[in-house]
Amino acid sequence: MLVYVLMEEEPAITLPWNSLCAWFKQTESTCFEMAHGKSVLDLASQHPEFNNLYNEGMASNTLSLMTVVVRDYSETFRGLRSLVDVGGGTGTSTRIISEAFPHMKCTIFDLPHVVATLPESTTIDSIGGDMFEFIPQADVILLKLILHNWNDADCVKILKRCKEAISSKEDGGKEIILDIVLNDDDMTDDKTKETQLFYNMIMMVTLGSKERSEDEWHKIFTDAGFTEYKIKPVFGGVRSILEIYP
Ligand SMILES: C[S@@+](CC[C@H](N)C(=O)[O-])C[C@H]1O[C@@H](n2cnc3c(N)ncnc32)[C@H](O)[C@@H]1O
Repeated sequence: MLVYVLMEEEPAITLPWNSLCAWFKQTESTCFEMAHGKSVLDLASQHPEFNNLYNEGMASNTLSLMTVVVRDYSETFRGLRSLVDVGGGTGTSTRIISEAFPHMKCTIFDLPHVVATLPESTTIDSIGGDMFEFIPQADVILLKLILHNWNDADCVKILKRCKEAISSKEDGGKEIILDIVLNDDDMTDDKTKETQLFYNMIMMVTLGSKERSEDEWHKIFTDAGFTEYKIKPVFGGVRSILEIYP
């Protein structure tokens, strides 16, 4: 988690918060773009040091979450023959899943400049590409901390691409999304709500995107053609596993 905290405290990440006031008065770009003149992904692709910190920050966050997910929610992955981790970054999630379920064929799919930095592996495939264009086929697609980066229309496009790539429902096809489901009910404690809202602010400042309530998730799933979904809260609801079925 330490590298994740270092990433959030990196001046390139904190600077855009100073643009919040100006950002509210316009509709053209994100706080991040106002501060840097480019998106976080463009900055990452052009500056290897920032790229490394961003990828390693995400990886350290992933390590704690995925260790719990494969241990306490192993039924989510059981019986699956293949998985593609879309936007898999440095592959931390994929490696944890592959070690826990060695019979599953696991593939990391990410932008070419990210895949280019991955170490060689005999057990995990890696493919570079653009998820808006093409996603490799598998029983299941994993989207961990991906959809909260995008607006609703882009989420629907990504989910439709994923739907083309997964097996049929009868063959166990599904998408596994790890993200936040915003809770505003009396059952959720204030610390959890505060953490969820802080992540919501981070998404707004960095990418102009957002975390979503269950109703908002339901709408994009339906718009992308999915018929059923299941939500499993992790870390008391700070994160959730959302399984969606074609
Ligand atoms: C917030 S990171 C999440 C990384 C990883 N899933 C995790 O949770 O640690 C978003 C990832 O999406 C990737 N990404 C962004 N746009 C993409 C695209 N068009 N096609 C494929 N991957 C993309 C980024 O390179 C980055 O690795």
